Amino acid sequence: MCGIVGYIGKAEAPNILIKGLRRLEYRGYDSAGMAVLDGGRVEVAKAAGKVAALTEKAREEWPEERFSKASVGIAHTRWATHGPPTEVNAHPHLDQSGQIALVHNGIIENYRALRARLEAKGHQFLSETDTEVLAHLIGECDKGDIFQAVCDALHKVEGTFGIAVLSAREPDRIITARRGSPIVVGVGDGETIIASDASAIIAHTQRVIYLDDNDIAIVKSDSVEIRDLNNVPVNREIAELGLDAEAAEKGGYDHFMLKEIHEQPEALANAIRGRLDFNLGSSVLAGMSTSPRELSELTRVVMVGCGTSLHAGLVGEYAFEELAGVNAEVEQAAEFRYRNPILGCKDFVIAISQSGETADTLAAVREAHQKGAFVMSLCNVVGSTIARETGRGVYLHAGPEISVASTKAFTSQVAVLLMMALKLGRGRRLSREYGLEVAQAIASIPELVAKVIEQSDHIAELAKNYVKDEHAYFIGRGPMYPVALEGALKLKEISYIHAEGYHAAELKHGPIALLTEGTPIIAVACDVPGKDKTLGNIEECRARGARILGIVTEGDDAAAECMDEFIQVPATHHLVATVPAVVALQLFAYHVARLRDCEIDQPRNLAKSVTVE
Ligand code: F6R
Repeated sequence: MCGIVGYIGKAEAPNILIKGLRRLEYRGYDSAGMAVLDGGRVEVAKAAGKVAALTEKAREEWPEERFSKASVGIAHTRWATHGPPTEVNAHPHLDQSGQIALVHNGIIENYRALRARLEAKGHQFLSETDTEVLAHLIGECDKGDIFQAVCDALHKVEGTFGIAVLSAREPDRIITARRGSPIVVGVGDGETIIASDASAIIAHTQRVIYLDDNDIAIVKSDSVEIRDLNNVPVNREIAELGLDAEAAEKGGYDHFMLKEIHEQPEALANAIRGRLDFNLGSSVLAGMSTSPRELSELTRVVMVGCGTSLHAGLVGEYAFEELAGVNAEVEQAAEFRYRNPILGCKDFVIAISQSGETADTLAAVREAHQKGAFVMSLCNVVGSTIARETGRGVYLHAGPEISVASTKAFTSQVAVLLMMALKLGRGRRLSREYGLEVAQAIASIPELVAKVIEQSDHIAELAKNYVKDEHAYFIGRGPMYPVALEGALKLKEISYIHAEGYHAAELKHGPIALLTEGTPIIAVACDVPGKDKTLGNIEECRARGARILGIVTEGDDAAAECMDEFIQVPATHHLVATVPAVVALQLFAYHVARLRDCEIDQPRNLAKSVTVE
């Protein structure tokens, strides 16, 4: 989604802003822009398309000394919501005087009413955006103190915002504020960087301040002063980012997605390390360190998330039911938040989110808190809003995930959910022996995944047979059903092949009508309970001319024989087997998309972190 970078210091702001925007490109966007202060004026450059187009435009339009002298600026990548991704709709937007520039993430819901009021006062708007309305509103409120003007304007808006504001009249500061859209302030040595995502900050400093909702900050090169919207000072700690700049680079791989697939053995080892207890046959999760008694009193687990995180929850559902013997449900977060869910203090709500910023998942967390549930998060991004608002949770430690298509976050989510289910189970009916068996299987996940990754070339060969397909169907049963859903999601989002995941048993209830000669079926038929039934469904597909690519367990020749072609994954515990199986499908989707020349890391229309409803 949209990205914000702001810089104030002594260095060349335009170059720093461009580098920061590049770091945010992975979030998904369709136009970009920046504003700097130069000679007492706000100067703006904007372009539709990529940051490279903005760089070219600024190089063409701006004098060279602006690049070397301007030391204050704000910049933005826009993911269109109000109005198409044109240059005029790109941020920054200026107020009526042209002296104030604004970049904005989020949505101003009452912008139409505000715009009409401002137009009645003679304001003229150039764009279709809600952001330009806020820029004009700030200008209208400005009586010589830009901080106060922003406060006053924000009191009048409804909706969500993460903003950065620059005024030519007060060149020593940038004003930044948030409500529902993240802002991180990096505290450097004689310079301060603002961003909507820490990856734009890591090259400058590890010391950051996360703004909370309704915080507003006066950011100078050597200080950060935070208040609330009523101008009351608030205290926010400086935190250590703990992120390594190299982790956010491609490191020799053609795409971030491929790098992140290959990083999985290490990411999973990080997610698992020190969290298994081989004496008790349980897990040790600091974020779940409530008393065993409190945990045993929880009667239901409700997992909420979106997209890939939702699929991880679906695997978790099997784990909680089987290992912990507890009722488990998974809900799409948007559905959960608006459905008025029935919750109480015995419900254990787990919010699953790689970014920790997904708007619907965050709202679900707030709803669950409101209803008195026991809420925990499962996030990857440290310090993200969901992680902070839940107050307790387990981090994935998978490292930055840059590619829009989630890979290592999914497998780490599943590994952590298995450990959570194990812990909950050991406080209930799960025996030490079975707990130990599961713990050992979890410990072997990095090795299992490495074995699948070794087959990347073989999977690339198989992928050639699917490049021309326009439809594909993924099937599975039990815990392999969410794996099929995730495999279909990966393929459709990066290769643009229409792919659907179905429960293998569901085919006969409609989808089988779609099968004709050569229709590709990707069957997750690992040797786990329910496999024989899946093999039966595969026969039904073959009888109708479908072409079957199977994901089968090593050594299961009988299953392999049912397939036209297959990928083998190592044998393991049936819940753990979901992880290597999905890695095979991630590689399959990657290679198909690469052969189709798709923009793998930034698929069309998609954004890494979905901060709007
Ligand atoms: C798909 C994908 C998305 C995300 C979804 C939730 O590859 O990445 O479906 O899983 O947008 O994002 P998080 O996990 O950040 O809440």
